[in-house]
Amino acid sequence: MSKKDTFYVTTPIYYPSDRLHIGHAYTTTAADAISRYKKLRGFDTMFLTGSDEHGQKIERKAAEAETEPQQYVDKIVATFIDLWQELGIEYDQFIRTTDENHQQVVQEIFKKLYEQGDIYLDKYEGWYCTPCESYWQERQVSEEEVCPDCGRPLEWVAEESYFFKMSKYAKPLLDHIKNNPDFIQPESRRNEMINFIEEGLDDLSVSRTTFDWGITCPIDEDHVIYVWIDALSNYITAMGYLTDEDKFKHYWPADIHLVGKDILRFHTIIWPAILMALDLPLPKQVFGHGWLLTETGKMSKSVGNVVDPLELIADFGRDAIRYFLLREVQFGADGTYSTEALIQRINSDLANDLGNLLNRTVSMVEQYFSGVVPSPGEELEIDRELKDLARETREKLAAEIEELHFTTALEELWQFVRRCNKYIDETQPWILGRDEDKKDRLGTILYNLLAGLRQIAIMLKPFLVDAPGELGAQLGARQEIKKADWEDLTNWQGLRSGSKVYKGEPLFPRVDMEEYFAQKEEEEQKKEKNSRESSGEQEDIEEDEEGVNLISFADFKKMELKVARILKAEHISGSDNLLKLKVDLGQEKRQLVAGIAQHYAEEELTGKNIVMVANLEPAEIFGVKSQGMLLAAEDEDGSLAIIQPDSKVEPGSIIS
Ligand code: ME8
Ligand code: MG
Repeated sequence: MSKKDTFYVTTPIYYPSDRLHIGHAYTTTAADAISRYKKLRGFDTMFLTGSDEHGQKIERKAAEAETEPQQYVDKIVATFIDLWQELGIEYDQFIRTTDENHQQVVQEIFKKLYEQGDIYLDKYEGWYCTPCESYWQERQVSEEEVCPDCGRPLEWVAEESYFFKMSKYAKPLLDHIKNNPDFIQPESRRNEMINFIEEGLDDLSVSRTTFDWGITCPIDEDHVIYVWIDALSNYITAMGYLTDEDKFKHYWPADIHLVGKDILRFHTIIWPAILMALDLPLPKQVFGHGWLLTETGKMSKSVGNVVDPLELIADFGRDAIRYFLLREVQFGADGTYSTEALIQRINSDLANDLGNLLNRTVSMVEQYFSGVVPSPGEELEIDRELKDLARETREKLAAEIEELHFTTALEELWQFVRRCNKYIDETQPWILGRDEDKKDRLGTILYNLLAGLRQIAIMLKPFLVDAPGELGAQLGARQEIKKADWEDLTNWQGLRSGSKVYKGEPLFPRVDMEEYFAQKEEEEQKKEKNSRESSGEQEDIEEDEEGVNLISFADFKKMELKVARILKAEHISGSDNLLKLKVDLGQEKRQLVAGIAQHYAEEELTGKNIVMVANLEPAEIFGVKSQGMLLAAEDEDGSLAIIQPDSKVEPGSIIS
């Protein structure tokens, strides 16, 4: 098969330092959608994802867990694979940077670059942030000598390191970016990268002597190869670079590298420079998408606002999650995840628009034709309009998805869904059903609705994994829909008259938002209670003669009490007594849930300094994340008073 018929798309390879969250699922679902679409269009598709397993962070995490790094990553990577399966991700290959083949080829790449003079030994001197694992140039660091990213103190390090001659590729790279407008997408990010390169590129440190968990440098055993050459090379080692030239020629260069905006620079500067040095063609496009944030900012384990995709899949089904991820946020921009927004999407788009269309149509076929698909008769103007819109939708959807505009692609499709619902309202089949003479016309209308649903089922195939088949089953054409490709959309009358529809369960049941959150809270409380009981927390507390609970000083020291300032208080809908508080904790902002609404008005809280437990395990209360606890006193009459410092101290002050 010739190169033009292949399509090669990648996600980043993820760090197995923690479980994946909904932000990672976002990238991978997008890659899955474009890959499934290309498969429907008959492309020989290669969808690569995997795991990026080396580095100091992993080495340290494994040590903390008292296991070997390899065992540690094996365990976490298994959870990745499990998640992708649960989410219906149809990748073609999964690469691990600990794969023997990958490690060998990376060593060969390093050696080749060294031998041709693109890698040389020198000394690295500069500022280093240990927690972020990042190096900073002198001009980037201010007098305080703290990390520009996280604000923690930097260390001055001087170590021997191998360097890659990146500076040499600045000019050709800039030319390439300017001559190939599609190379970096979206447009705004492209300009950012151009500005960055125009400031000049430094040579890049590509080896380390400060940790061991990495691929050994083939020319110097004291060094391991640092993340850039190791991780980025996955896109070619997985395709058989230097080991399977046929496969490599077949798929390389990649059509799209999908990456988050935080790693766009690595993919549009370091990676192409390495490829140029290896004399290999560059990927056709690197697309930098935005972040999926929560209401409390970027998801991170330490903030405790990580959304677990497995839990959402269990609660709402994978198709609802996939639909939300692709529909809600314009791919490229930042967007916000909230369970409320997810439930609203499910109810309005999936249960209401699509679910009702299917339900109404199949019910009428059962009622008027005993469930047998009628034959279409004479076509009227309104029928032609519907058919034309299906064709237009197919064309627009294709154009949008090719550009990775998943949101607009789905919007187009939903306009057609809504048009079908309106077609029912306009043609009023229930009136025709009263009159035996109108049976032909009724049959034509119902056939068109079934045909429209068949179109929808096929057009949904890039996005959703279960719904197309289930929809097909209710149309009496499960196998046909499963086998159908994009070409089958050109045939409006693909559904066989005479076959039987089958009225099944609603595709997407409505979710009662209040009930859902109440139930979640109950589960949460049960979980907490169980874990308290099973950890035997109670027994740790000693009692003195008078029955007063005593804790050790060491136990007290475990508690982090701090002063915080309330920035904003907001009532939590559905609860009488809960407020959502945004607080300033000096170095960071937090969100707390506090049961004080019956004692304090929202306005009167703003600006108050409070005492909070800053290291309390985060919890979700009424669907709202709470990262800490406010201290208040309550007397027997139920009066409640917030504890406040006696005079002015700055937010973040430690209480001890
Ligand atoms: O960066 N919203 O791995 P990683 C959207 N190993 N995307 C998010 C996100 C969020 N909230 N959080 C993370 C690495 N991501 C390297 C990649 S590739 C050769 C090496 C995205 O596990 C993030 O933008 O830290 C990035 O694209 C990806 O998850 C991997 O993150
Ligand atoms: Mg990252």
